[in-house]
Amino acid sequence: MNWFHIGSIDDIPLRGARCVKTPQGKIGVFRTAENEVFAIEDHCPHKGGPLSQGIVHGNSVTCPLHNWVISLETGKALGADEGSVRTIPLRNEDGKLFIALEAVMMAAE
Ligand code: FES
Repeated sequence: MNWFHIGSIDDIPLRGARCVKTPQGKIGVFRTAENEVFAIEDHCPHKGGPLSQGIVHGNSVTCPLHNWVISLETGKALGADEGSVRTIPLRNEDGKLFIALEAVMMAAE
């Protein structure tokens, strides 16, 4: 597992997200109103909607396509919906964000 610097927490608005392209697919990095940061696959378990364009509330995001609610902590769909996305280990070092990936090369979008 390698840690990659993906920018600063200040690059992400509160209750917002950004999408990071990696060799392992797109990863959504989310910042909650409480200033917590989470990384999960940017691919809704329903039909692949871009979760990084969804609405962040609490520690969850609502998919922009059909409103499934996904937990940022577990990657699981909440409520009656079933499915989950991969969560990505994330480290916040004084506002510098790092995610753990197996591959060596990546590019931030
Ligand atoms: S693709 Fe996300 S709710 Fe349908």
